[in-house]
Amino acid sequence: MTLLPHIEHRVTIRNFTGEPVVQKSLDAILEAARLSPSAKNRQPWRFVVIQDSEVLRQIQDAAYNEPHVSSAPVLIAACTTNVDYRMPNGQVSYPIDIATAVAFMMIQAEEEKLGSSIVTTFDETLVKEILSVPHSMRVVMLLALGHPEHRPLRPPRRAADQIVSYNHW
Ligand SMILES: Cc1cc2nc3c(=O)[nH]c(=O)nc-3n(C[C@H](O)[C@H](O)[C@H](O)COP(=O)(O)O)c2cc1C
Repeated sequence: MTLLPHIEHRVTIRNFTGEPVVQKSLDAILEAARLSPSAKNRQPWRFVVIQDSEVLRQIQDAAYNEPHVSSAPVLIAACTTNVDYRMPNGQVSYPIDIATAVAFMMIQAEEEKLGSSIVTTFDETLVKEILSVPHSMRVVMLLALGHPEHRPLRPPRRAADQIVSYNHW
């Protein structure tokens, strides 16, 4: 199992071709989310897969017509079903739970030779209304999936010695 090459290869894809995503790939990506870890294994998530052209169009409007949203054949709304749970360190768990599941999906998307991008530029109230998300739940992120039109260079990262230390800060 060699995951690092997938992680090295992944970049945010903001333009997709019109080619559809096959169900087998979508299933594998959703399985990656299903198996991802969560605080106390509470699995406080629901993934709404959006493929219907009319629903996609409405979500695109709610996402300010960002190009990656408008060109994506699939959007997955990563929603939480619990906003209250705090981890033993006192911090709220749901953004971490959802982000972890989304990261797992992005890595599986690489395995499926698909591109992906996280989208947080959207009007949550509108998106909730469009997708009939219950009032007390939240839409944390959208994940856009599709075949990359082109693969940009990865924006630079800080060097390891700037972000890692051993034993003390
Ligand atoms: C929490 C989070 C929110 C993000 N929101 C957006 C977004 O709303 N729109 C967008 O184009 N990219 C968004 N991104 C993608 C980042 O801009 C991107 O990951 C970062 O610039 C690094 O580039 P790379 O993914 O190509 O390595 C988001 C990423 C994360 C982790």
